[in-house]
Amino acid sequence: MQRSVKLGRNDPCWCGSGKKLKKCHPNEIPANPLFRRQFQILEEADMPKMRRVCRLNAEILAEVCKRVVPGVSTEQINTWVHEMTLDAGAYPAPLNYPKGLTDPRNPQIKAGGFPKSVCTSVNEIVCHGIPSADVILKDGDIVNVDVTCLLDGFFGDSSATVYVGTPSDEAKLVTETARECLEAGIRAVQPGGRLIAVGQAISQLAGSRGLGVVREYTGHGIGRVFHTEPQVCHYPNPETDCELVPGMTFTIEPMINAGTWRTELDNRDKWTVYTADRRLSAQFEHTVRVTETGVEVLTQL
Ligand code: MF3
Ligand code: CO
Ligand code: CO
Repeated sequence: MQRSVKLGRNDPCWCGSGKKLKKCHPNEIPANPLFRRQFQILEEADMPKMRRVCRLNAEILAEVCKRVVPGVSTEQINTWVHEMTLDAGAYPAPLNYPKGLTDPRNPQIKAGGFPKSVCTSVNEIVCHGIPSADVILKDGDIVNVDVTCLLDGFFGDSSATVYVGTPSDEAKLVTETARECLEAGIRAVQPGGRLIAVGQAISQLAGSRGLGVVREYTGHGIGRVFHTEPQVCHYPNPETDCELVPGMTFTIEPMINAGTWRTELDNRDKWTVYTADRRLSAQFEHTVRVTETGVEVLTQL
């Protein structure tokens, strides 16, 4: 998901160079500095690397989801993701994000930003939940695990919501609807088509079940950079609409709420996003690429 963050003159430049903003692009700051005014159109030559990181991302996510049972802490999930990612020679992109726009092991780049290697969003948390040893998953919870790997210069990004033990009817409704909304959004992608079709398909399905679709957080272009245009709204938004052209690579990641679509940011940690009414929220995410004939779901195993 994407939200806007104000960059200071001494922060690393939004372009990912690792130089200070004031030394790099002082007079050229996009309205949302995390969204470069640029789409990512990946060439066939980029695809071996892009497919590799997306496959790794999917494998880590699937393995972690299998291990989630009552009694596991979200810190434990973080440790699994962190270790599996490093073991594969990749970097967990959430760690220090957005300060570590490139690999934070590069000493030029200051630490800071998101404090963990994965987002774990439990129950009424919509997204960007911070793993913690104090959060022990219990029977009936739902948790979204959102993994992003950086490998060989390319990013993969996917997430899934899993049931901890036995879900309530409402937990099943939001989770299965979020899963189907992602599928419906993917089916709406076609070369020569429009991005708005993704938001239309998702909001129609969620609306037909009386559920809310989050508006303030969206999918995003991905590839050599973690978050770029297009902003992939999960509701029909003419302002972010664009033509879908072969090679265009982005995420679809609908957040579906039991009640209102409105959200609230935690004003202590400035990361955790809650549903405004504290009812349940579920999410699924894939990284996809528009092809000559349809769509390739890169983070599908
Ligand atoms: N993986 C999230 C997304 O889907 C972004 C997480 S950024 C973090 O775009 F800093 F919160 F980790
Ligand atoms: Co994403
Ligand atoms: Co993600």
